[in-house]
Amino acid sequence: MAKIDDAKIVELPKFLDARGNLSFAENNIQIPFEIKRTYWIYDVPGGESRGGHAYQKNQEFIIALSGAFDVIVDDGQKKKKFTLNRSYYGLYIPAGFWREIENFSTNSLALEFGSEHFNKEDYIRDYKLFEKMKKNGKI
Ligand code: TYD
Repeated sequence: MAKIDDAKIVELPKFLDARGNLSFAENNIQIPFEIKRTYWIYDVPGGESRGGHAYQKNQEFIIALSGAFDVIVDDGQKKKKFTLNRSYYGLYIPAGFWREIENFSTNSLALEFGSEHFNKEDYIRDYKLFEKMKKNGKI
């Protein structure tokens, strides 16, 4: 079962260039899973929060393409806060973690990759249930 230290920042390659910088991420290389889905969160009013939930199967990789926000990850015992504020950092979150995204800066852009297609059955939205499932080794 994944523990808090399994959630980690991955520094992405970057080509610094006076014409504009370039970074990239590839399947099973910088992103440690096969990507099945991508989505993005945009037009977020400054200071907003989103995403208080866990996934049973879906692994995630989150990049702050622009602006900044904090991602709080929680393995049921420990919490860790990651601040994403550079477009060449990605945050890997294994399945089975509670996660919240907080403190969006105005007009920030969060790009997310997932290891699973969207499936509402994969979500756990009740923190007490999450804790219980973690304790019982269900996730
Ligand atoms: P959700 O993951 O619940 O966002 P948050 O936890 O930040 O509130 O997604 C919001 C809505 O978007 C929800 O009704 C499901 C839908 N959705 C999709 O249809 N496909 C997707 O890939 C995602 C991430 C969400």
